[in-house]
Amino acid sequence: MRKIASILIAAVALGGAASANDAVTQAEAVRGRALVEANCSSCHAIGVRGDSPARNAPAFRTISQTYPVAHLEEALAEGMSIGAEHELAAMAPRDVNAIVVYLETIQTSATPQRRATPPAIG
Ligand code: HEC
Repeated sequence: MRKIASILIAAVALGGAASANDAVTQAEAVRGRALVEANCSSCHAIGVRGDSPARNAPAFRTISQTYPVAHLEEALAEGMSIGAEHELAAMAPRDVNAIVVYLETIQTSATPQRRATPPAIG
C-alpha cells in the first residue's frame, strides 16, 4: 500500500513538472510571435496561413520543409545575411530561443517536432 502511494505521488510530481514546462514553452512561443511580428512580418507570412507581403520571402510555416528550424539559431544570434535583401541585426539568445520555439509551433512539415500550441493571432 505504501509503495502504491509513493508511486502515485511520484506520478503527480512528474505531471506537475511537465505542465510547468509546457507553460514556459507556451510563454516563449507567445514572445517569439511578438518578436517576429515586430521584426519580420513586413515581408514574411508569420502565421499558420496567409501569404508573405514580400512575394519572394518564404512563409515562416514552410521553413522546416527546407531545414530544421533550429538551424536558424546561429544565423539569428549572429545576425543573418541572406542575399542583398536580408540584413538582420544579431539578437539576444533569449529572443532567438523564443523565435525558434514559436516557429516550431507553426511548421506545416510532416516531420513531428517539439510543439506548443500556436498563440492566437492578434
Ligand atoms: C525587408 C523584408 C524582410 C524582412 C523584414 C525579413 N525578411 Fe527574411 N527574407 C526576405 C526575403 C526577400 C527572403 C528570400 C531571400 C532569398 O531567398 O534570397 C527572406 C528569406 C528568409 C529566410 C529563408 C532563408 C533560407 O535560406 O531559406 C529566413 C529563415 C528568413 N528570411 C528569416 C527572417 C526573420 C527571422 C526575420 C525577422 C527577424 C526576417 N526574415 C525579416 C525578406 C525579409
